[in-house]
Amino acid sequence: MKRIVILTGAGMSAESGLKTFRDSDGLWENHNVYDVATPDAWHRDPALVLNFYNDRRKQVLEAKPNKAHLALAKLEEKYDVNIITQNIDDLHERAGSTHVIHLHGEVNKARSSVDPTLVYELDNWEMKMGDTCEKGSQLRPHIVWFGEAVPMIEKAIPIVEMADVVIVIGTSLSVYPAAGLVNYAPPFAEKYYIDPKELEGKNIYDFKIIKEKAGVGVPDLVEQLIK
Ligand code: APR
Repeated sequence: MKRIVILTGAGMSAESGLKTFRDSDGLWENHNVYDVATPDAWHRDPALVLNFYNDRRKQVLEAKPNKAHLALAKLEEKYDVNIITQNIDDLHERAGSTHVIHLHGEVNKARSSVDPTLVYELDNWEMKMGDTCEKGSQLRPHIVWFGEAVPMIEKAIPIVEMADVVIVIGTSLSVYPAAGLVNYAPPFAEKYYIDPKELEGKNIYDFKIIKEKAGVGVPDLVEQLIK
C-alpha cells in the first residue's frame, strides 16, 4: 500500500469555524498569544490561561469536521495514511482518520504540571484552578506552548521520510520544528500544498501548489488519488 503523509495546520479547521492564528493581526481570539500560550503566561496567570483554553475547548466541542477532514478519512480505503497535525482539535479523529499525531497537543486533554507523562482525557469543557493530578499538582492544558519542546516531532520525522505522497494543508509553515517537516519528504515523493494564500520564501519549491480552500482543494485531490 502506498503511504500518504498529511501535514495540517489551522486552515484545515477554518471551515469548521475555528480561527487560524496569523489571519487576524497577530491576535488569537482577541489575545496576544504570548499572554495565553507560553509557560510565562501560565506562571503569571494560570486562571486566565485555563479560561482561554476552556473557551477553545467549548468551540471545538461545538465544531464539526468539514468536507476536507471527511475526504482525508476516505483516503484510508486505498492508502496507508498518517496525519501529522499542528491543530489541537480532534476533528481529524471525529472524521474517521485513525493515525493522527498532534504536534502541539490536544485541547480535550489535561496533564500534570509536575509529571508530563500523566495525561488525562477530559470529559467536559471546563478545567478549573484546584483540579489536580494524582500527585496533587494543578492540571494544565495538554498543549505545547511557545518556548516548549515538541516531543512528537521525533515520531513524525521518520513517518515523513517514508512517504510516497505528501500533502500539506492550511498552514503558513511559520512555526518550527513543525514547518521543517517538509524538508524530510523524500525527493521522489509526490508533493502537494493546499492553501488559498500564496506562500513565499518557504522550502516547498517542488510542491504542486493548489491555491484553494481546504473544503474545495482537499476533496478534489482525494478523488483524484483514489481513482
Ligand atoms: N483552507 C485552507 N487553508 C486556509 C483556509 C482554508 N479555508 N483559511 C485559511 N487558510 C490558511 C491561511 O492562508 C494560512 O496559510 O491557513 C494558514 C493558517 O496559518 P496559521 O494561522 O499560521 O496557522 P498554523 O500554520 O497552523 O500555525 C502553526 O502556530 O500559533 C501556533 O501552535 C499554533 O499550531 C499553531 C502554529
